[in-house]
Amino acid sequence: MLAGKRILLTVAGGIAAYKCHDLIRRLRERGAAVRCILTEGGAQFVTALSLQALSEDKVYGDIFSLTDESEMGHIQLSREADLLVVAPATADILAKMAGGLASDLATTVLLATDKPVMVAPAMNVRMWEHAATQANIAMLEARGVIRIGPDEGDMACGEYGMGRMAEPEAIVEAIEDFFGGANRPLAGRRALVTSGPTREPIDPVRYIANHSSGKQGHAIAAALAGLGAETRLVTGPVTLADPAGVEVIHVETARDMLAACEAALPADMAVCAAAVADWRVAEAADEKLKKNGGGPPSLEMIENPDILKSLAGAGNLRPALVVGFAAETENVVANAKKKRKAKGCDWILANDVSRATGTFGGDANTIHLIGAGGSKGGVEDWPRMTKEEVAGRLAERIAEHFGGGS
Ligand code: CTP
Repeated sequence: MLAGKRILLTVAGGIAAYKCHDLIRRLRERGAAVRCILTEGGAQFVTALSLQALSEDKVYGDIFSLTDESEMGHIQLSREADLLVVAPATADILAKMAGGLASDLATTVLLATDKPVMVAPAMNVRMWEHAATQANIAMLEARGVIRIGPDEGDMACGEYGMGRMAEPEAIVEAIEDFFGGANRPLAGRRALVTSGPTREPIDPVRYIANHSSGKQGHAIAAALAGLGAETRLVTGPVTLADPAGVEVIHVETARDMLAACEAALPADMAVCAAAVADWRVAEAADEKLKKNGGGPPSLEMIENPDILKSLAGAGNLRPALVVGFAAETENVVANAKKKRKAKGCDWILANDVSRATGTFGGDANTIHLIGAGGSKGGVEDWPRMTKEEVAGRLAERIAEHFGGGS
């Protein structure tokens, strides 16, 4: 089940660290390669020698080791893994992860990684229930970190409650689910998503942009990755964090966005959620435009490339499923149907962005899905949902389309 999967296991300093021996053994039995990082605290509970014997690999621990860095830099450590697992994840390491600290090898790797991360918290019940720990874990989960446990039960410290590390068997199950279990129907498929606004320069200090927050596109990329798709997100400037487990390419202009999308092909599916500027200034000035008493400048505008249309017309590189959005303020469904034809895409998600709906920049969206079948002349009306819910539903519909949805 886990054959060929590479797991980077961080063992932090908690009494539950002894369970990681069993965890490593079970992972190896299923064909996974396990490489360990042992924190200073972890080394108070288990030895590097035992982890090395069980994993049959070198155990890492020292960020300042010149030999380790020359053989296998700390960035390389996470690059060579498919999944990072922290077990036990103590209150301390969770706080450091949430705060973005890089104070030792384990936290540096966890901060530097763009790979999915799973944590198995283990601590005293009061530490687990403390508002600080709860805020930290909520923040980590919002960033896409997968949590397994903790369980309720007797604790090594004599108390009873939540905080026992999940049993190795349950952690292995969660890891198996993560890699191609029933919840990952898009495993093996490649997805391309565009998100956010674009920024079109007028001169070195001024630009034309729009109010797109990128929330919808980012949520779609996270949802597709969550269903197992290898996902690339090409985004204009936004203030959102990069979704975990997604390769993110940051661009500014529509032309950069198109180039990044073309470079990301081939893909099985493309979802264009970016609010691309339709026009740009024909000749952006190299120097800052000055007032100079001559009155306001007149800007000559020219049309930007249409990324959705280009992807839909990409010949033999065309993704099998091309999905666009139609931001409309009137005749929403009728205009969206026209837009689907004009762009040559398969599905279009029509949404009303008139000011009263608060869709643009807001947290919710009301969607009409056009082109995916449905009883009302190929239109599916979705209730008003959060952008995360829209993303989840779209990802499920895409998975069904590819024959693997629930
Ligand atoms: N789109 C794109 N590249 C552009 C313009 C739009 O990829 N240069 C994509 C958007 O990501 C969206 C779809 O096309 O998926 C429709 O965008 P929308 O703003 O609704 O439509 P426009 O093409 O801009 O048409 P209009 O402004 O006339 O409604």
